[in-house]
Amino acid sequence: MSFTITGMFTKIKKSIQKFIQGDKNNGRIKWSLYSRVWREIGRPQWKWLLFGVIATIGAAGAEAYTITLVQQVVDKAFIQKSMANIYFFGLQVIAAFGVKGIFSYSKSLLMAKAGLNASAALQQRIYRHMVKMDVAKFYGDGIGKNLNYFNVQATAVLNLVTGTLVNTVQQIATLAMTLGLMIYYAPQLCAVLLFLVPAIMIPMVLIMRRRRRLSRESFGIANDVSQHLNQTLHGIKTIQAFANEKSESEKFATVLNSSMVNSYKGTQAFALQSPLLELMISIGLCMALIAGGHFIVSGAITTGDFTAFLLALTAAYKPVRSITSTSNTIQHGLLAAEVLFNFLDSKPGIQDAPDARELKPGKMSVTFDNVSFAYVPDEPVLRDIDLKVPAGTVCALVGPSGGGKTTMFNLIERFYEPQRGKIKINNTDIKKFTLHSLRENIAEVSQDVFLFNGTIEENIKYGAPNATFEQVRDAAMAANAHEFIMSLPKKYKSDVGEGGALLSGGQKQRIAIARAILKDAPILLLDEATSALDTQSEKLIQSALRDLMRGRTTFVIAHRLSTVLDADIICVVKDGRIVERGTDAELIAMGGEYKRLRDIQFKGKK
Ligand SMILES: Nc1ncnc2c1ncn2[C@@H]1O[C@H](COP(=O)(O)OP(=O)(O)OP(=O)(O)O)[C@@H](O)[C@H]1O
Ligand SMILES: [Mg+2]
Repeated sequence: MSFTITGMFTKIKKSIQKFIQGDKNNGRIKWSLYSRVWREIGRPQWKWLLFGVIATIGAAGAEAYTITLVQQVVDKAFIQKSMANIYFFGLQVIAAFGVKGIFSYSKSLLMAKAGLNASAALQQRIYRHMVKMDVAKFYGDGIGKNLNYFNVQATAVLNLVTGTLVNTVQQIATLAMTLGLMIYYAPQLCAVLLFLVPAIMIPMVLIMRRRRRLSRESFGIANDVSQHLNQTLHGIKTIQAFANEKSESEKFATVLNSSMVNSYKGTQAFALQSPLLELMISIGLCMALIAGGHFIVSGAITTGDFTAFLLALTAAYKPVRSITSTSNTIQHGLLAAEVLFNFLDSKPGIQDAPDARELKPGKMSVTFDNVSFAYVPDEPVLRDIDLKVPAGTVCALVGPSGGGKTTMFNLIERFYEPQRGKIKINNTDIKKFTLHSLRENIAEVSQDVFLFNGTIEENIKYGAPNATFEQVRDAAMAANAHEFIMSLPKKYKSDVGEGGALLSGGQKQRIAIARAILKDAPILLLDEATSALDTQSEKLIQSALRDLMRGRTTFVIAHRLSTVLDADIICVVKDGRIVERGTDAELIAMGGEYKRLRDIQFKGKK
């Protein structure tokens, strides 16, 4: 028996300790964050905020004024039995509420203005940062987390600036005024009630601490939720094709459940607060009644004073009660600010060198100078690649899947940087050029074509926004896309759907080829650009592409060797190395890997 009781005590002690200390491990909120949030998000809206705060104080003042009216009604109208005074005070009550109404209304509008301005500015800032982010980081973090900077964090931070600012000012103003009135009308009673201060403060602080810890957790959980949703929306077809609706729903239920548990714990802490507070206040009220009666009988205070004191005491309850929820919003907002600023402060690893210069359009040779690269440390994907492709020539990259061909394109476009060696254009390291001008000089048809949700015309124009419709049409013709586009009900104005989902694989590829043709850049990167086409279309496009390649430096990746036979140089890329290089004829003569691949593909065709 004694064992169970001891056990119970230890358990209770532990849970109390956990409740109190839960937060310690998470470190304190940095005060510098407050000032940074103010500087960067609040200050630009200072005029709206200032007038909003003034209106808030005005409204609190008008409310406090009604309490002084009650005192006067009781003492000067009821007790002196003066009807004239009753009318007079009655009218004042209406006036006081009228003034309060005007202030409240103005406050709401001013704060909405400040909030909306700040919100637009912040979201724009996040967006500008996001579009410059390293693709490596982007792939690492996932879309859900990035979306949450807009949904979750930005909202919490904005609440901090507008909602919390107003609430805090309102609460402090109301509290100061009601406490002032209490002291003014019955200082003796205030002395009696002093014990309430620690009795209210201590549980409040404990509750605040616990909610802060839960807030921190909630961000991670929110990321999981949006990550899952995002994956589902992108992969809906795959989910259904594998008949995984049920298991995905179950996974989502697990994620939701942890979100629910987190919120529930927050509610548990929060729900404790009101009953605790009300208990304390009721004890206070009871003592005030006893002591107040005593003071009235002894003549130390009037009945009006006492009534006003009681009203002020009950009015003070509201701001005190809101302090914890305001504090929670502040904590939550500051944690969000921490996450958001970390993101906004992160510098893209790949950006312009201070002395970067423009890469001017013209003839361009591309060189891999002893390049080694790994996406993940110690797992090399490219090793000692040496390759010079003179201006205006065509270099084909062939070889087994996973060999590193697309990775070479990623390096030319500087989405990643080699750990060793250099990529050069016209014998200058590409790091010396601005990213913008480098990428403007490269047109790419990538292995997984991505189209934007919009019309076909908009998509073809993506790399050349100023192109005329005739130019768009010519590019589409060259890419053998014109015909199928004209057969669609809305022709060039047809929507391509989410990521191009309303088009077939081959149609998407042809739009992507037209897009690259229209961009008209000196360097052309074709990554399996015609892999989704039938032989007939491929042949047609091949001739168009040959025209396009003329005068440009072109890299072609192809598994179908028939499309690269006349390249100036063919490189076989295997396990991150160029294992063979030469023209088709030279490589056949060499009798190695290329010859083997070629034999397999052309078997029986000769
Ligand atoms: N973003 C990435 N992060 C980590 N590893 C990657 C990434 N992209 C590719 N890899 C790895 O790098 C290796 C080379 O990939 P790459 O896409 O260059 O192959 P590839 O030659 O284009 O193959 P395929 O012919 O199938 O397109 C692969 O082992 C792949 O798993
Ligand atoms: Mg590839």
